[in-house]
Amino acid sequence: MCGIVGYLGNRNATPIILEGIKRLEYRGYDSSGLAIIDGNKNLKIFKESGKIVELERALPGPDETYGTIGIAHTRWATHGEPTKINAHPHTDSQKRIALVHNGIIENYQLLRKKLEEEGHSFESETDTEILVHLIEHFCLEEVSLTDAVRQACKLVEGTFGIAVINRDNPNEMIAARRGSPLILGIGNDEFFVTSDVSAIIIHTKRVIYLQDNEIVTIHRDGFEITNLENERIDAKISEVDWDVSSIEKGNFKHFMLKEIFEQPISVQNAFRGRLMEKLSTVRLGGLMMNGNELKKIKKIQIIGCGTSWHAALIGKHIIESRARIPVEVEYASEYRYKNPIIPENTLVFVISQSGETADTLAALREAQARGATVMGITNTVGSTIARESDAGVYIHAGAEIGVASTKAFTSQVTVLTLLAILLGRMNHLSPTYGATFIKELRSIPGKIEKILEMNDLIREIAESIKDYTNALYLGRGVNFPVALEGALKLKEISYIHAEGYPAAEMKHGPIALIDENMPVIAIALKDAIYDKIISNLQEVKARNGKIITIATEGDKVVKKFSEHVIYIPETMHILQPLLSVIPLQLLSYHVADLKGLDVDKPRNLAKSVTVE
Ligand code: G6P
Repeated sequence: MCGIVGYLGNRNATPIILEGIKRLEYRGYDSSGLAIIDGNKNLKIFKESGKIVELERALPGPDETYGTIGIAHTRWATHGEPTKINAHPHTDSQKRIALVHNGIIENYQLLRKKLEEEGHSFESETDTEILVHLIEHFCLEEVSLTDAVRQACKLVEGTFGIAVINRDNPNEMIAARRGSPLILGIGNDEFFVTSDVSAIIIHTKRVIYLQDNEIVTIHRDGFEITNLENERIDAKISEVDWDVSSIEKGNFKHFMLKEIFEQPISVQNAFRGRLMEKLSTVRLGGLMMNGNELKKIKKIQIIGCGTSWHAALIGKHIIESRARIPVEVEYASEYRYKNPIIPENTLVFVISQSGETADTLAALREAQARGATVMGITNTVGSTIARESDAGVYIHAGAEIGVASTKAFTSQVTVLTLLAILLGRMNHLSPTYGATFIKELRSIPGKIEKILEMNDLIREIAESIKDYTNALYLGRGVNFPVALEGALKLKEISYIHAEGYPAAEMKHGPIALIDENMPVIAIALKDAIYDKIISNLQEVKARNGKIITIATEGDKVVKKFSEHVIYIPETMHILQPLLSVIPLQLLSYHVADLKGLDVDKPRNLAKSVTVE
C-alpha cells in the first residue's frame, strides 16, 4: 500500500529517500511527501498530491533540501482524500516531530477526541496525524522519543509501520511496526528504514526485518531494537539475495512488460532444485512435512486474493485431478468472516505474492486460531505471511513491481502444480507419469520463450480491440481460471470491462451480450474437451462475435471462425495454464499501452493491499 523510506547517515537524505519512494511508487501513488532536518535544526516538510514526480517538481533547490536525516512517504489514501494536506509526513502541534505511517489506526476517532479535549487541533482528515500528536502528548522533557513512541504504540489499535524524527535531535530516528512491514537497512555508517527492501537495495543488502511491536532507535553510530515492554531484542541481520537489476526496468518500457518477459526464468526458478529425477517426483522441503504426514492430508484449503486466488483455482483443478484430494479455494476476505469449517487432516495454504495482503493475513490467523496448520506460498522473504505461516514454499519469482501480477502468477501455478505431483505420487500417480511431468515441466521455459516471440503479432491484435468497452474471456477446465485471470488483467490496466466465463456456461447468460461489439477471447487448446469448446465458439460466431483464439500449434479448425489466432506450443494438460496465460498478459499490456495508460500504476489499485 503506502511506502516508507527513511535515511540517517552522512549523505544528503533528500535524493536518497526521494529515489527510494519512487521505487515504492508501485505500492501507492496518489500523493507523497518528505521531511528533513537541516544543519540548523529546521524541520522542513515538502508534500504534493499526485505522483511523486509532482513532489520532485515542487522541491526547491538542493541547498533548501539538504539534511542528513529524512523520512519520505508515497501514499495510497485510506482516510481522507489524496490531497496535499492529507499527504505524509504529518507533524505535531509544535511542528517538532514528523512522522510517516503505513497502515490504519482503527481507534483514531477515540484518540482524536481525547487529544482535542487536551487542546490538540488537526489539519488533515488522516488517522496518521492523530498518531504524531499522540507521540507529542507523551514526548515530555524527560521522556525520550523512543519512549514516547512506545507509549503511543501501546494505545493504538490497528496496524502501523512508522518512521519518526524530531527536529530537536537530528541524530536520531525511531521506527516501529505492527502489522505493516518495516525493515532496517544497515549500510556503512548509515541506516535506512523502509517498508520494502526494493527501496534500499542499491545502498545496502544487509537488513533486519522488524517484528510486530518492535521499535528501533537509530543513531548515527548504531541502533537498538526494543519491544513495547522496553526489553532489548537481539535481531538477526539478513542478506537480501535480490539483484539490483531486478528493480530496474532495463530496456523495457514498463515493469509489467519486463516481468512478462522474465517468465522463462522465473518459472524455472520456481521449480529449480525441486524436481527429483531419480524418484520421478518432486520435493518441497519448505513444507517441512515427511511422507507420513503428507499422506494423512484428506483435504486442502487454499486462500488468497486477486491473481493469487486465480492461481489457487488452477491449483485446485490440478490437485484434485492428479492427487485426488478435495480442495476448497476461498477468497481471504470471505474466509475470515464465514466461520470456516476446517475438518481434521486439512492442510491450509495461504497464497500471496507480497506476503502482506491484510485479508490473507487475517485468514491465516483465523485458520491458525482454529488449530489448522497453515502453509504460506509467497514471493517475499521476511514478509508477515512468510513469518507467521507454520511453514511454506517460496515461489522465487524475484521482485514484481508492475501492479498487475504476471510472473508471480506463473510461479504460483508452478509451485501448486509441483504440490499436486508430490501428493499425487504419494497416492496413485505412476513413476512414468512423474517422469513425463518432469520432462515436460523442464520444457516449459523454452515454450514460454516461443510465445514471447509473438509479441508483435499480439500488439497488432491489441490494436484491433483497444477501442471496445467490453470483452469476454472463455476457457474450460484448467483454463477457466486462466480466462478469469485474462479478464482481470484487461480490467486492471486498460479499464475495459471484461469477464471470464467457463465457455459452456456462456449460453446461460453472457451470450445475450454477444454481437459485433463484443470481442471474445477464447482458450481452445487440443485436449479432451477441445470439441466442446469449439461448439461453444461456433455459438459466438453465429452471433457475429469477434473471436480471438488461443490455440494449439497446428490447429487448422479454429482459423475458420476466429478473427485472430495465437498459436501456442502443445504441452500436458495440467501445464497448459503456464502457456495459455502468457498471450493474455501480453494482450492486456499492449491494449493498455496503446491506449496511453500508465501500465505499471493503474488508477485506484495498489500492489500490496495492506488494509481490509
Ligand atoms: C492486489 C494486487 C493484485 C494482487 C492482489 C493479491 O489487488 O493489485 O495484483 O493479485 O492484491 O496480492 P498478493 O500480494 O496477496 O498476491
